Amino acid sequence: MLKYKDIISEMTLEEKASMMSGGNFWNTTAIDRLGIPSIMLTDGPHGLRKQGGKADHIGLNKSIPATCFPPAATLANSWDLELLDDVGRYIGKEAASEQVSVLLGPGLNIKRNPLCGRNFEYFSEDPYLSGKLAAYMIKGIQSTGISACPKHYAVNSQEHMRMTIDEVVDERALRELYLEGFRYAVEEGKPKTLMTSYNKVNSQYANENTHLMQEILYDEWNYEGVVVTDWGGNNDRVKGLLAGNQLEMPSTGGITDKEIVDAVRSGELSESVLDESVDRLLNLIFETRKTLNETTEEVDMEKHHSKAIDAARRSMVLLKNEGGILPLQSEQSVAIIGDFAKNPRYQGAGSSLINPTKVDNAWDQLSQSGLTVIGYEQGFKRFGGRINTLKNNALKLAKQADVILVFLGLDEGSEAEGSDRENMRLRENQLELVSELTKVHEYIVVVLSGGSAIEMPFAKNVKAILHGYLGGQGGGSALRDIILGNYNPSGKLAETYPLKYEDVSSAPYYPGLEATSEHRESIYIGYRYFDTKKIPVLFPFGHGLSYTEFHYDALKITDQFVSFTIKNIGSKAGEEIAQLYIKALASTVFRPNKELKGFIKVYLEANESKEVTIDLGEHAFSYYNTLINGWSVESGSYELQVGSSIDDIRLSDTMEIKGDDAEHSYDQALHEKYYAADVHNINDQEFHQLLGYTPPNPSWDRKKKLGYNDTIAQGRYKKGLGKVLYLIVILANKFLFLIGKPLQANNVMFIKNMPFRQIPRFSQGKISKRMMDRVLKLINLW
Ligand code: BGC
Repeated sequence: MLKYKDIISEMTLEEKASMMSGGNFWNTTAIDRLGIPSIMLTDGPHGLRKQGGKADHIGLNKSIPATCFPPAATLANSWDLELLDDVGRYIGKEAASEQVSVLLGPGLNIKRNPLCGRNFEYFSEDPYLSGKLAAYMIKGIQSTGISACPKHYAVNSQEHMRMTIDEVVDERALRELYLEGFRYAVEEGKPKTLMTSYNKVNSQYANENTHLMQEILYDEWNYEGVVVTDWGGNNDRVKGLLAGNQLEMPSTGGITDKEIVDAVRSGELSESVLDESVDRLLNLIFETRKTLNETTEEVDMEKHHSKAIDAARRSMVLLKNEGGILPLQSEQSVAIIGDFAKNPRYQGAGSSLINPTKVDNAWDQLSQSGLTVIGYEQGFKRFGGRINTLKNNALKLAKQADVILVFLGLDEGSEAEGSDRENMRLRENQLELVSELTKVHEYIVVVLSGGSAIEMPFAKNVKAILHGYLGGQGGGSALRDIILGNYNPSGKLAETYPLKYEDVSSAPYYPGLEATSEHRESIYIGYRYFDTKKIPVLFPFGHGLSYTEFHYDALKITDQFVSFTIKNIGSKAGEEIAQLYIKALASTVFRPNKELKGFIKVYLEANESKEVTIDLGEHAFSYYNTLINGWSVESGSYELQVGSSIDDIRLSDTMEIKGDDAEHSYDQALHEKYYAADVHNINDQEFHQLLGYTPPNPSWDRKKKLGYNDTIAQGRYKKGLGKVLYLIVILANKFLFLIGKPLQANNVMFIKNMPFRQIPRFSQGKISKRMMDRVLKLINLW
């Protein structure tokens, strides 16, 4: 039954089709004669990125100033659902005050591998944590009457070739890891809009993937909102529409609208599918416009800045604190070393780049705080390269101080949308500096910036490590408060920090080659691998220290919940994040050693004790059973473990569960390596057996002719025009970097990964399909 039947019946076929793609880069198509307004969709996710003037995808044109909250990788460490709701509401208010109907976020792809260039925009390696955080952020954004837009559905696990890569993943890993967070986000957060990803999932583009869209999103999760493509993510418009993707963004100058009209006329597409799609879109348009028409509230940007500081404080993680060197005492003389102290790295690069209303830096905040700061030295060049004077000046200053604060981090060029990181290391000049500092000084505190896991060869040799992640515009003030002890750190890692990259389960397979990206590690990602295979890590999932200590006691288990008491046994008030992990003691299915199934964050005054409760959620004991296409529970004993991190379990008890014991297809003899979590060298046969089909060849045939679904990047294998086009993009990237525009340089990489099919569409038809055919012909000549 159509809600907007009356309007739809007035619309011509062409008008309906025109609504299925953007009217321009950020807005939907208006139909004035029927009173259908246009609405604006814009980024997201950790603030409002509304481009003031001409829209572009490269970020050359700045967006209007908005509060830059900490990105998802940072906020996730708070494990604080109320905070996520709050931040969502603050961003929603800014968006509403700017007449934006859809805020493109949160991003909740699962962190399969630490090198993914966009990990800073995602929450966690764990779907339960990601999904819950996303659901609350969605609720917060939508409490202002506008729409959130969780993204990118689904399995957008790498930036390399992101617009064409085929993510090959077995159904169980898909359900238990890559979709489970989206399920929480959709069922609990009830977003009004959802964005599909660029990539293919098991051979079908995500936005035309009937399994992901029709069977799961609509039929199983009862999704009622609108689905939008990622910008330029449409492949075959009619297939996308049939799968349930109502809105293609941005505008294609009418090219794909015509394809829809033709498909209806030829009978390939039933007009009722189009009507239903228009109906959903009209609902989004009218509902959000109603709110925006009534929005009069002015945003108090100072209040929003304070919220950004608060969010950063709650999300930073104290990784190490030997001898309680932190918080610093005001009488200690302190040297501040490292470029990141004065030039904070506080957000990632790409489509999420916010133009902040202001930015606090740690140097200003600390030097004006009453601390005895004796000086600052840059220490190293931000983008690499050895300059001995910088290092020597830093060593000289260090010798005069009681304590040294060294600010290290990943720079703007090392992690960004559009390209993956090459390794997990900080730049050599930073490592060299810290190594030399440790030879001349005993009391070193490293303060880190960055949005994804790094190796820390210095970890053993320094006294403390405070991870500020990407702190948003208030990050400098938040660091000051933690370093001085005005705020007791409470963040815990939402991702594992391995000792070295080679230890990561997907390392042998990541990133995928040009054709496919095979998830041979299956369900064993992040802690699910390290904890099962007993691989030592640098800092485990869920780890984070406080200036106080907590004692856990009195575990009680019922079939609905677990409860226990937490007591603050130190002398400072603080917050603890208690985590519930569940382990199947005798499973006939291969499973991770244990999995996160609940958590709670609790504030306790010194000496205070509280009884807390964690509910046992719907999938607490289940695994995804591909034989019955549903979740199954095996009868037997399960251990419920409550801990301060995955490696610091404080209480545990077992529980008998009566399950459905459905038949399954997992066989220890067939899947021996998976039963042993031995996933570093899964061969073709083992992987194909798990997948249940033979996937396409993972390597791209370099000799083949380039077609519409190949990319500008692949032009490099050609000799003539293809190579020239590729080189232009690469040179533009280098040039922008050289003239000091690293963020724009990164964004150029978007073009590199663009498939040729998008050129006529992005150019709004200025480059026609016929012209494109000729260009491809020319490219393929050499
Ligand atoms: C990104 C999306 C973003 C969109 C609009 C795409 O390239 O993948 O996350 O929302 O651009 O800027």
